[in-house]
Amino acid sequence: MPDFRRKAVRERMAVRLDASGMLGEAVADGLTRAELDGLAARAAEAARALAEKRAAGELPMFDLAQEPEALGRISALAREVRDEVDTLVVLGIGGSALGSRAILGALAEGPMRVEVADNVDPWSFGTLLDGLDLKRTAFNVVSKSGDTAATMAQFLIVRDRLLRALGAIDYKSHVIVTTDATGGSLRQIVNDEGFRDLAVPAGVGGRFSVLTAAGLFPAAVAGVRVEDLLAGAAWMDARAQSGSLSENPALLLGALLYLAETRRKTNVVVLMPYSDRLRPFGRWFAQLWAESLGKSVDVDGRPTHAGSTPQPAVGATDQHSQLQLWLDGPADKVVIFIRVEDHGREIEIPSAYGDLEGVSYLSGKGLGGLLNMEQRATERALQQRGRLALTLSVPQLNAFTLGQLFQLFEAATVFAGALHRVASWDQPAAAEEGRRLTFGLAGRKGWEDGAREVEAWLAAKPARDVV
Ligand code: PA5
Repeated sequence: MPDFRRKAVRERMAVRLDASGMLGEAVADGLTRAELDGLAARAAEAARALAEKRAAGELPMFDLAQEPEALGRISALAREVRDEVDTLVVLGIGGSALGSRAILGALAEGPMRVEVADNVDPWSFGTLLDGLDLKRTAFNVVSKSGDTAATMAQFLIVRDRLLRALGAIDYKSHVIVTTDATGGSLRQIVNDEGFRDLAVPAGVGGRFSVLTAAGLFPAAVAGVRVEDLLAGAAWMDARAQSGSLSENPALLLGALLYLAETRRKTNVVVLMPYSDRLRPFGRWFAQLWAESLGKSVDVDGRPTHAGSTPQPAVGATDQHSQLQLWLDGPADKVVIFIRVEDHGREIEIPSAYGDLEGVSYLSGKGLGGLLNMEQRATERALQQRGRLALTLSVPQLNAFTLGQLFQLFEAATVFAGALHRVASWDQPAAAEEGRRLTFGLAGRKGWEDGAREVEAWLAAKPARDVV
């Protein structure tokens, strides 16, 4: 295993941002250098203001890599669970599922099976449960608030099945809870039942919680080197301290996306890794970007309706699905490529059909090499059309580089939020409205207004509009 404490190793494993595909020298309709330079002072000011907030303890999500005690507890509990069972199922939704999925998708290699159940679809959840040997399965219930309807419903179903299969004493060792340290129904249940538990630190919202127990515990159970994830994040964090756009990759990424949205009116951010292992990372990014920046008012309460739509994609697959739109459709997108230089394995394409030029040129090339050629070709095609694109180059996909990616995108999102002048760490609309109406419809006491509102709205729907 490479030693990421060594500077030379870190430099070799650095994630690099190539911003040339956003700038006018390389792409006809790109941003001008003057526009970027014109933002430098505001970007530096945003970085300074965020550093102050952080020093005051108001941005705890950026200090997670510095919590060795939490990591010790997570690793110890993961070892226990690995000794006891061979399957772990995470029950959670949103930020309580997408981070662990992103890590597992990129890095889990077995032999432990770790699944993430993040929906209340009776078909998929039922099928998953039916296929489990409950004696050999543990469940990690993850909910920061401890009150999310979907997760609590999953938990109640699992608890009932475990109780019936294992009895009132043994079932307890099959449930590990990750929730707020003090508040919420789930914390109360832990206190009453005595389940083993982990805490999500106060002030860390779901979409920023991948490097807390919410993401790290399932990862550690799957055998991922979680200390390397944190080391990668800490190193990117160190690189993201500068107030200079030419030194700080997160500030540059946030600033370019902000400029594209406000000056070129882009309203879609495509994240396109050329790696199947990073497919779930795209969905993690989508939540981070959407919930952090989609805000109706700025920090002074003035209307803003900030935010652009995140669009997860994957190369080369989506070249044959969405690329046509990106090239010939409206110029309203920024495409962020993630290019993995070394895929960690290679498969050589065998020689055959030497007389058929349409096939024989592939002979002897590697699949990973071909994937990366496809990435370059797509990047160039966008550039030729004057479409905006950025490329992140990842030397290898490992825990250290994935940690860098998490930190880079979290910091870039918060920097973009600061430039938009919105609070990136809350989600008032989704949290208040969505929950209010769901709780109302599900008959939760005290939330009856929500049910009445939905019923009146349904009754008033004009029948003629339903065909
Ligand atoms: O970012 C957030 O805080 C939310 O999207 C949550 O992750 C999501 O709603 C799940 O919430 P909880 O972890 O409280 O169950």
